[in-house]
Amino acid sequence: MALQVLCGCVMLLLLLGPQVPLASAARHPALWPLPMSVHLSEDLLHLTRESFEITHGPNSTAGPRCFLLEEAFRRYHEYIFGYFMSPDDHLKFSGEAQLQELHVTITSADSECDAYPNSTSDESYKLVVHWPVAVLEARKVWGALRGLETFSQLVYKDPYGVYVINESEVIDAPRFGYRGVLIDTSRHFLPLKTILTTLDAMAFNKLNVLHWHIVDDNSFPYQSMAFPDLSKKGAYSYAHIYSQMDISIVIEHARLRGIRVIPEFDTPGHTESWGKGQKDLLTPCYQGSEKTNSFGPVNPILNTTYEFMSRFFKEISRVFPEEYIHLGGDEVDFDCWESNPFVTEFMKERSFGKDYRKLESYYIQRLIDIISSTNKGYIVWQEVFDNGVKLKQDTIVEVWKDSFYRKELADVTAAGYAVVLAAPWYLDYITYGQDWKKYYAVEPLDFAGTKKQKDLVIGGTAALWGEYVDATNLTPRLWPRASAVAERLWSPKNVRNLDDAYDRLAEHRCRMVRRRIAAEPLYVGYCEL
Ligand SMILES: *[C@@H]1O[C@H](CO)[C@@H](O)[C@H](O)[C@H]1NC(C)=O
Ligand SMILES: *[C@@H]1O[C@H](CO)[C@@H](O)[C@H](O)[C@H]1NC(C)=O
Ligand SMILES: *[C@@H]1O[C@H](CO)[C@@H](O)[C@H](O)[C@H]1NC(C)=O
Ligand SMILES: *[C@@H]1O[C@H](CO)[C@@H](O)[C@H](O)[C@H]1NC(C)=O
Repeated sequence: MALQVLCGCVMLLLLLGPQVPLASAARHPALWPLPMSVHLSEDLLHLTRESFEITHGPNSTAGPRCFLLEEAFRRYHEYIFGYFMSPDDHLKFSGEAQLQELHVTITSADSECDAYPNSTSDESYKLVVHWPVAVLEARKVWGALRGLETFSQLVYKDPYGVYVINESEVIDAPRFGYRGVLIDTSRHFLPLKTILTTLDAMAFNKLNVLHWHIVDDNSFPYQSMAFPDLSKKGAYSYAHIYSQMDISIVIEHARLRGIRVIPEFDTPGHTESWGKGQKDLLTPCYQGSEKTNSFGPVNPILNTTYEFMSRFFKEISRVFPEEYIHLGGDEVDFDCWESNPFVTEFMKERSFGKDYRKLESYYIQRLIDIISSTNKGYIVWQEVFDNGVKLKQDTIVEVWKDSFYRKELADVTAAGYAVVLAAPWYLDYITYGQDWKKYYAVEPLDFAGTKKQKDLVIGGTAALWGEYVDATNLTPRLWPRASAVAERLWSPKNVRNLDDAYDRLAEHRCRMVRRRIAAEPLYVGYCEL
């Protein structure tokens, strides 16, 4: 990635000529998402590209052997000053003192430098910008990453082109621990580069979960080691496959930015593409007593189905270090099951009557037992709860149906399950105008329930389904619309002022553009280069 960025710059350099420095900072500090507590003083310090350094604090439990931080220091130096060497020596510093260093101090004995982020990762930090050395303190590397982003957002350019920062103090921690973006690589394949760019932009917005809806009816791009035919026959083509190497690149790129990668393998519905490479996995549909040529959901009555799922998810649990796997479970179409005489017979034997939700329940329960045996947790779409599947108490339910989602939040939490909210944040729906305001206005805890229930809402997801999205339009459709969700999930509940948000978001969007994220404009205007 670093190489690609460099190559891009060299090309731009040739186009622009070396005399045009590419400025990277804004004209005023614009924090997004707004931290928990910020105090900016009127005292300015200046920084120069050549002498300013981000280093490990003397008392930090992490040192130069922490690759995650070393990489972050290098990245953020570039984000602050841009990619070009523009000599600062012609600039007139208007008497402010110079800030020489940012010391990053990890205070916990275990910095978690080599770990993967998870649901309990500590992202809190404290940032004190005073002459002569700014100090960023965090218990773990995850907080340091968030604090570096904040520091980079505080630096701006004065009217003479000098990089400056107000002396300041920031104390910060997220309101919700789960702050996700859903991408869909089945309806359209997304090249690796698009996914990595999405992770970059997520870090700029302090989002921390990539919900990777990797396969669906339309294509199966995941290259399985145990079942290579799944992608060989189920992907759009050989060029539309994620190899094990691709997957590990995504996971590591995400880890270095404090982002979890939660894979979703949605069953028993949404599985048409699975059937191409795995014989007898799907239910054959019937017309009367005749088999048709079409197939329905996963066939829940065969032992081979569970043998397959067991091997498949064992592999998935090893490939993804993440503690949770998303099992889908949404929109199961019962018609095909109903048409199949063997399924009918199976239902009768088990006294399920005509209630196909019981059959779905039977399937999901067996699947959950399989996942549990791999020591992973699981997330399911709301129908699994709605259909009365018996769930383990540590199940996470993702609420996606837009109508009555507040009632659903109340019901799911009343039953004691943790919830991720996606319903009001389906970013694949687009409308004229500033729809980010609608996403911004959502209050996730605005439902009838006790404090105990509210505590079960662990966060939310901005979902960008892929029917009308591929590499050409994913980035501008996602940003800065997902930024609105990011602030709602990170910042304190009372951060809701739309005018203030507009000013900060417009600048944040320009900052993303300067960092090579093709984020769309909020409204009329322009970006300072
Ligand atoms: C930062 O410092 C400048 C110079 O004193 C001051 O004009 C500005 O208001 C300060 N910014 C904030 C947000 O306080
Ligand atoms: C580092 O720790 C020592 C011993 O606890 C303390 O005296 C010193 O002030 C600390 N330095 C910094 C920069 O925090
Ligand atoms: C999260 O990661 C930390 C550091 O690796 C680990 O100590 C902790 O047990 C993990 N928590 C869970 C719930 O897996
Ligand atoms: C499926 O497995 C069950 C339990 O292991 C066994 O009793 C049953 O005979 C098997 N069915 C078939 C068709 O093999």
